[in-house]
Amino acid sequence: MIRNDIRALDAYHVPDASGLIKLDAMENPYPLPDTLRRTLAERLANADIHRYPDAAMENLREKIAARHGLAPEQILLGNGSDEIIQMLMIAADQGACAAPAPSFVMYELIAKWIRRPFTAISLDEHFNLDADRFLQVVSREKASLAFLACPNNPTGNFWAADVVERIASDFGGLLVIDEAYAPFADRDHLHLINEHVLVLRTFSKIGWAGLRLGYAVGQASLISELNKVRLPYNINTLTQIAADVLLDHFHVFDEQATRIRCERERMQRALAAFPDLQTYPSQTNFITIRVPDAGQAFAHLLKKRILIKQLGGHALLENCLRITIGTPEQNDQVLEALKELFK
Ligand SMILES: Cc1ncc(COP(=O)(O)O)c(C=O)c1O
Repeated sequence: MIRNDIRALDAYHVPDASGLIKLDAMENPYPLPDTLRRTLAERLANADIHRYPDAAMENLREKIAARHGLAPEQILLGNGSDEIIQMLMIAADQGACAAPAPSFVMYELIAKWIRRPFTAISLDEHFNLDADRFLQVVSREKASLAFLACPNNPTGNFWAADVVERIASDFGGLLVIDEAYAPFADRDHLHLINEHVLVLRTFSKIGWAGLRLGYAVGQASLISELNKVRLPYNINTLTQIAADVLLDHFHVFDEQATRIRCERERMQRALAAFPDLQTYPSQTNFITIRVPDAGQAFAHLLKKRILIKQLGGHALLENCLRITIGTPEQNDQVLEALKELFK
């Protein structure tokens, strides 16, 4: 009844965070301001949920496109950028899907679901990517689709601009530059968009994780092909209305992202002062660290009611932990807990 390779998989596990300081999933720690909540509530109260949602979402796409000085035809909306990754896997030419490793786990997982061969190109011990090696492997494996998470999750770092540019110009397949962490990064890659390069964005990290809204930005011709594998009504009415309201108040989220970036820099400096603890540069809303015993550190923080992510699944992530940047108070609690272990 069910494919054996599906039976062999585990369902995506989300740990229970009730009562914990939740710093495991790269969410924005700041809740919506009260005034914005009230505006949102008024608009949502008028939602026509007895009707299917607006299927084409012209207005919403136009609002998002305008933020980038682009046309609405260049925007494809997904139920989270995860859903767009799935659309890309379905629509791209047959052939392997390639991505650096370690990187975002959904690339490999979705490839498995639809039986697309997956090729991982290992980063070096500093989590850097070698463009020559990447290009050699994708050509050898005849990859037709590749994902570059820029900045990368779970390592947090940016690969050098010339590495990304080389891959964008020399890879013959469809290249997806996944900019989930763009609000916290010093550069983006929208200028690289062309007939075989797309950029992926999400509103999850900026503060709307519960809405599930992501988008692809690309040439209109490519977007219209991908739109053919978008499930009808994939963005529900409540999300569409909420996004419309929140986009009109985007300064609130920009300001929160700035605060998160400042806290990230403070945390970087504080963590760098710990002996026995290695930090990696981050252009995201999290910091990846390496400790002598990640299991012990994870358990200690949990005892202090702080939930972070213990990384695994790749040799380069041995004893690594990923800590989402929280509010200043939450970050202080992380530092306190780590001090008990490392000072
Ligand atoms: C690199 C990267 N891409 C995409 C996503 C998925 O984001 P969304 O919430 O839009 O599905 C994540 C989430 O962690 C991510 O780290």
